[in-house]
Amino acid sequence: MTTWTSLFLLLGLGLLAVDAAAPWWKTASFYQIYPRSFKDSDGDGIGDLNGVTEKLEYLKEIGVTATWLSPFLKSPMADFGYDISDFKAVDPLFGTMEDFENMVSRAKELGVKIILDFVPNHSSDECDWFLRSAAGEEEYKDYYIWHAGFLNEDGTRRPPTNWVSVFRGSAWEWHEGRQEYYLHQFHKKQPDFNFRNPVVREEMNNVLRFWLEKGVDGFRVDAIYHAFEIEADENGNYPDEPRNDWTNDPDEYGYTHKIYTVDQPETPHLVYEWRQILEQFQADNGGDERILMVETWSPIEIVMHYYGNETAEGAQIPFNFQLISNLHYDSDAYHYEYLINNWLNLMPEGKSANWVIGNHDKNRVGSRFGADRVDLFNILLLTLPGCSITYQGEELGMLDGYVSWEDTVDPQACNGYESNYMDNSRDPARTPMHWSDETMAGFTTGKSTWLPVSTDYRQRNVKTERGVSLSHLNVFKRLQQLRQEPSIVDGSAEVTAVSNYVLAVKRHLLGDYVYISLFNIFDSIENVNLSSVFGSLPAKFQYALVTEKSIKKVGDQVSAGSVTLMPHEAIVLRSTTTA
Ligand code: GLC
Ligand code: MG
Repeated sequence: MTTWTSLFLLLGLGLLAVDAAAPWWKTASFYQIYPRSFKDSDGDGIGDLNGVTEKLEYLKEIGVTATWLSPFLKSPMADFGYDISDFKAVDPLFGTMEDFENMVSRAKELGVKIILDFVPNHSSDECDWFLRSAAGEEEYKDYYIWHAGFLNEDGTRRPPTNWVSVFRGSAWEWHEGRQEYYLHQFHKKQPDFNFRNPVVREEMNNVLRFWLEKGVDGFRVDAIYHAFEIEADENGNYPDEPRNDWTNDPDEYGYTHKIYTVDQPETPHLVYEWRQILEQFQADNGGDERILMVETWSPIEIVMHYYGNETAEGAQIPFNFQLISNLHYDSDAYHYEYLINNWLNLMPEGKSANWVIGNHDKNRVGSRFGADRVDLFNILLLTLPGCSITYQGEELGMLDGYVSWEDTVDPQACNGYESNYMDNSRDPARTPMHWSDETMAGFTTGKSTWLPVSTDYRQRNVKTERGVSLSHLNVFKRLQQLRQEPSIVDGSAEVTAVSNYVLAVKRHLLGDYVYISLFNIFDSIENVNLSSVFGSLPAKFQYALVTEKSIKKVGDQVSAGSVTLMPHEAIVLRSTTTA
């Protein structure tokens, strides 16, 4: 063979291989770990990296492809790790860099990808960069957003604008040392970076490169829509945001209408820049595609910009918060249908969907929608097209833990009042994971935990649920097996409300079985004629997945013309013949 022919052959094979293998993340099943609450290995009552490593096999057991971990980097923990003081070091509370490396190498052995939480909007006020900036060191002066504020007639000082922090109160904090205010869109111990400074951008790019070198498979990007604020005018001043009329409390986040502090037009371009860094790294080092999952609570049209534009690739996974943000306890099937199809329709050509229903910032699914609907949401997330993202414990149907005002630690709640702290507290969704029915739910060998273990752990835990055939856990595992089916991996998706009460999702790949998942959202018994919904269908179906509500068995046959659903029941059907 001449060099040329072998070169062509190689190229040809290379192209084929690339074409044949869809990127791993497209249909992946993601799992979010909140390390403080996942597994404690050293008995101090706080979860840690060795705890995660110990439980990686569990992720394998439940069919998880990749896990994104909330931050475990050096932090004073004012926002439990979202206030980072060293972006390139592990906090001793969670372990050492060596523990991190062990976790990554064990995860690689098991084939579980590791995604790091990247927090670019702010650092801790104890970060060396901030200390130097506050001291006015020339090189660091403009790393953060500083402003002298204004003097009132009576000589008192007032902040530069009426901007409010997400965690209540002015978003500006006076710094005695520098004699200026700095901006913090979250906690006052979380000063916002100045992304208009190219040096800051490069620092952040280097943080990405550092962790890529360490072997991570991608990043979940925190609070991206806060990255830029409006640019200061020629006098260095910022404008006030317009008032919302539904509150008179200037400390409440909703006091102003967010037009200058979030969703600035520059922001998605940051993500495009980061995507290039990931691509460059892959080009230089090989391996599977590295990914970006970005967190933005923006209007859906804006979220779509994060996928990329005509000239640039963006995040593979801009979190789809449509269900988390817009579904309520009473939402009917048409609302589900609308929210799901709206995302699929607005998605730019060639992009992939993702589905999120819970995370460490929101109440548990079972507490928001009722314990009775846990399977329903797991089945929905795992049978829709694209990738699913599950928060730890949702596979068990964990509910919000009760956390008294005295035990409350979340700054979002502590900055408010005892009378309504429950409306703001994120602690209930963060109580320790339930591994077993032993003391402390098998989370720790210690005597106390950073948040109380929820009292219902004896019923809802991994060990007990493993042994109950139709437990939430086993339904979840069975779903993961179904997700291997060609129609569910690659098939088309038709999502439609059958009535106010029932939602149906049809997945089909030509020449393969037709799968239909059905969701009875309310508490009446419903009967569905699938042929009248989907037109021509194979006449016979069989149950491919049932839950404890079902009075049916997997494998039992049912006619497409008449399927009965119990209150809150969700099932998956499979045609008996390929079509
Ligand atoms: C994101 C995180 C949240 C954190 C905030 C500030 O919204 O999910 O937990 O408090 O950013 O970093
Ligand atoms: Mg520990």
